[in-house]
Amino acid sequence: MTSDLWLHFTRHTPGAEPPVIVRGEGAYIWDQNGKRYLDGLAGLFAVQVGHGRPELADAAAAQARQLGYFPLWSYAHPPAVELAGRLADAAPGDLNKVFFTAGGGDAVESAWKLAKQYFKLTGRPRKHKVISRFSAYHGTHHGALSITGIPAAKQEFEPLVPGAFRVPNTNFYRAPEHDDDLEAFGRWAADRIAEAIEFEGPDTVAAVFLEPVQNTGGCFPPPPGYFDRVREICDRYDVLLVSDEVICAFGRLGYAFGAERYRYQPDIITCAKGMTSGYAPLGAMIVSDRLMEPFLRDGNTFLHGSTYGGHPMSCAVALANLDLMEREGLYDHVLLHEATFRNTLEKLLDLPIVGDVRGAGYFYGIELVKDRATKQTFSPAESERVLRGFVSRELFEAGLYCRADDRAEPVVQLCPPLICDQSHFDEIEQILRDVLGRAAALL
Ligand SMILES: Cc1ncc(COP(=O)(O)O)c(C=O)c1O
Repeated sequence: MTSDLWLHFTRHTPGAEPPVIVRGEGAYIWDQNGKRYLDGLAGLFAVQVGHGRPELADAAAAQARQLGYFPLWSYAHPPAVELAGRLADAAPGDLNKVFFTAGGGDAVESAWKLAKQYFKLTGRPRKHKVISRFSAYHGTHHGALSITGIPAAKQEFEPLVPGAFRVPNTNFYRAPEHDDDLEAFGRWAADRIAEAIEFEGPDTVAAVFLEPVQNTGGCFPPPPGYFDRVREICDRYDVLLVSDEVICAFGRLGYAFGAERYRYQPDIITCAKGMTSGYAPLGAMIVSDRLMEPFLRDGNTFLHGSTYGGHPMSCAVALANLDLMEREGLYDHVLLHEATFRNTLEKLLDLPIVGDVRGAGYFYGIELVKDRATKQTFSPAESERVLRGFVSRELFEAGLYCRADDRAEPVVQLCPPLICDQSHFDEIEQILRDVLGRAAALL
């Protein structure tokens, strides 16, 4: 019985028992009845190297025996020192200062606070506002939730932190503007950031938070030129560009960081999940000397931290995880196989319920529609009945763990472990074909 357990983001039905997942190996997980599922979501966008890797378990055990816990409050420990060096080497451009956190939302929270204090220390104390994109998810803490662009996720907790504003995302499939010209759409979308900065007053805006590929809404990659223009806008208005790579780093898009794939230079990177392949909780905010410099003088301190940020066991697991990914060439594996992953998923476009297949690397969203010709989406009742009531349950029944999500338009999200190959892509496609085919008949 799981009746004492309160699940996250879950509608609890009295008497109903959730699946209990007891074991994982490679790309598969098993429930308490011994049934096997393909993990099409890498746990929660995290398990890059797959499940059941003894190297990571051994690294955690060895560190726990050596030094099970110590904080990063005025003291350092070897795994944090070494991991900071590894991240600094891997991060794009001049990003080389690593502030560890316990997870992704913590990193986002840290980035907003850092941006605020940085501008206070450098003589621009009015700069405190932040801009992010519609339907983007950045976490659940009050600050990170304020940055999140999903109204339904926020309304129960309002009023939130003031000063967070939204601009359009890069959903080209439903672009109201330039729907035949991706680059023009990208310029238009980037210019909405400049407009928001102007509307709010450039001397009040501190940072823009963007994912390399936006997850919520179903994987919106940036149009060509989008991030170049965003970078120019941020420079023009002296606004920090935060690349929220909680999902997109550590090989998810075939590179250490998504910013590398799309060739832009962030001022701050936030990351988590894949850093430890989810085997231990850890996040980080990575910045440059320029952002740390004001904190090195006049007795200034970044007045922020937590008990578990940079936990030694998590850092040791992260180091072993980075070693493993390097040894197995997983970033290159993703680059080598991403086209066949896409091609396999695109076969589903022959189903009338599949409107769009989009994403990059091993990170895809499949948007479901009621009518492909008009792109008509589900009504709230259809979403409830078809997406939640059928697709979600049937995919799992059929042996595919992934996510059917309607925080924006209805999408099936896929983000498998980076070790996956064609056999896994085929299995995903076959299960989706069967379930989505049957779902179409319910509309
Ligand atoms: C882009 C992004 N930012 C922040 C978060 C929050 O991370 P966490 O759940 O570790 O707090 C997530 C979680 O999925 C995310 O996808």
